[in-house]
Amino acid sequence: MENNKLPVHVGVIMDGNGRWAKKRLMPRSVGHKSGMDRMIALAEHAKKSGIKYLTVYVMSTENLARRSADEIEGLFGLIRKYFTVNVKRLFEQGSGIKIIGDISALPQDVVKILTDAENLSPKNPDFTLVFAINYGGRCEIVNAVNKAVEKGEKITVEQFGKLLYTDGVPDPDLIIRTGGEMRLSNFLTYQSAYSELYFTDALFPDFSDAEFDRALASFAARERRFGGAQ
Ligand code: IPE
Ligand code: IPE
Ligand code: MG
Repeated sequence: MENNKLPVHVGVIMDGNGRWAKKRLMPRSVGHKSGMDRMIALAEHAKKSGIKYLTVYVMSTENLARRSADEIEGLFGLIRKYFTVNVKRLFEQGSGIKIIGDISALPQDVVKILTDAENLSPKNPDFTLVFAINYGGRCEIVNAVNKAVEKGEKITVEQFGKLLYTDGVPDPDLIIRTGGEMRLSNFLTYQSAYSELYFTDALFPDFSDAEFDRALASFAARERRFGGAQ
């Protein structure tokens, strides 16, 4: 694939874990476990494909507020395990991690695991997994506005970008949503202004590397104009 046809940053709204489990008459937690396994493999595949940033939507601000304590605790369990086992491997391979979202609302030990990982993450990695947890685009924007107000000066679009959680990460070129819904559900609200969107019915645990490649092929076939003329 030509280099300019390969997205630098891909965002994935990993939806459909619950339905995947339901189809198998299993609890939602089993779907989340399968989804996490898929995410781990997908990150490796994305890196091999030459993608520089993969942002995975793990938990939205709305998920934290609206899902049962049981389901949320199950997700934290998976995250704890991921960050104590798999992230080390990521670092050994020279890849990095960045957390986006309001982590202050998470359990203390999870906050520590996440911040420790960010601190240990290699500098100038060739691939970065951006982990969106208790992430909400609206909260991120309001949070940035409040920081700007505290400074007491009017700011530019460029300066505003530096106040977002994603500071240092280029805007997503491509956003993929699995699970059949065609909405962004508060994902990278500000940064998605010119993102190409790709929707698939595949439930996230079934979203294979080959399906990811199909999304990349769809991206490569598109003409991005950014408001310019053809
Ligand atoms: C996405 O899967 C993962 C999270 C939101 C944590 P869902 O849990 O939303 O799965 P469905 O949409 O109910 O199938
Ligand atoms: C979006 O999925 C959030 C994540 C995948 C983490 P949801 O299942 O929460 O989205 P809605 O509720 O269908 O919009
Ligand atoms: Mg869902």
